[in-house]
Amino acid sequence: MRLDKFLAEASVGTRKIVRAYVKEGKVTVNDQVAAEPSMEIDPNADTIKYLGKEVVHTGKVYYMFHKPARCITARKDAKSKTVLDYFDLVNTNGLFPVGRLDKDTEGLLFLTNDGHFNHQLMCPEKHVEKKYFFLAFGTLDSKDKKQLETGICIGEDESLTKPAKIEVVKEGMYHEMKDEMDIGECINKKKNLYEQSVVSGYLTISEGRKHQVKRMLRAVGCYVVYLKRVSIGGVMLDESLKKGQYRVVTEKEIQKLLEK
Ligand code: URA
Repeated sequence: MRLDKFLAEASVGTRKIVRAYVKEGKVTVNDQVAAEPSMEIDPNADTIKYLGKEVVHTGKVYYMFHKPARCITARKDAKSKTVLDYFDLVNTNGLFPVGRLDKDTEGLLFLTNDGHFNHQLMCPEKHVEKKYFFLAFGTLDSKDKKQLETGICIGEDESLTKPAKIEVVKEGMYHEMKDEMDIGECINKKKNLYEQSVVSGYLTISEGRKHQVKRMLRAVGCYVVYLKRVSIGGVMLDESLKKGQYRVVTEKEIQKLLEK
């Protein structure tokens, strides 16, 4: 096995980071400073140390996380809490989020140290479906739904979105649905919300453009005030996970996600 692969899988850092560690002379193999990240090692026979501490190979790890709002999908942030701040693991060095959710979006996020798993879920050619629940100001008539289903323009220099699935759950006036809509400060900025139309539903997309769900709904006149990812590739967010909690992804779920 390559030394850089071993280190990355042991959660010492990403492939790029561990290569740099090797170049900086921070890694030893059987007490000899390793010269090349690509050198072959035997995980069962060789002793690998990073900064003098033995590296134990943990293998690949996969977590399902219920991302709360106000949490950044990044490994580090100067101001806000990141997804990794919710993990009480001893070593999160190699762990990274698969894709990203906006700061105010809640719901399903996978974290792993497996680059292949990340690629399988994120690569546009794989068309992995991501399903979102939304609450929005506005209405969705059959023409809007058709546009969302067939493809819609969400940016000047962008191609039309790929076909999506839209399912309206509830339509009504804000005052009828306000208990379901925690819109916080928004209410102060806009007057006359009380009599405005609101709609809730599910939008399923197979791409991952920036703010895609919000922009798609915006393109048909809907302003999203709440967004939650409920499933990826047919794997549902485990509703027993409270916001900010995580659990290991089961073997069956991994197989389902890698099916394509
Ligand atoms: N689409 C969005 O607009 N935001 C997200 O966080 C995810 C998808």
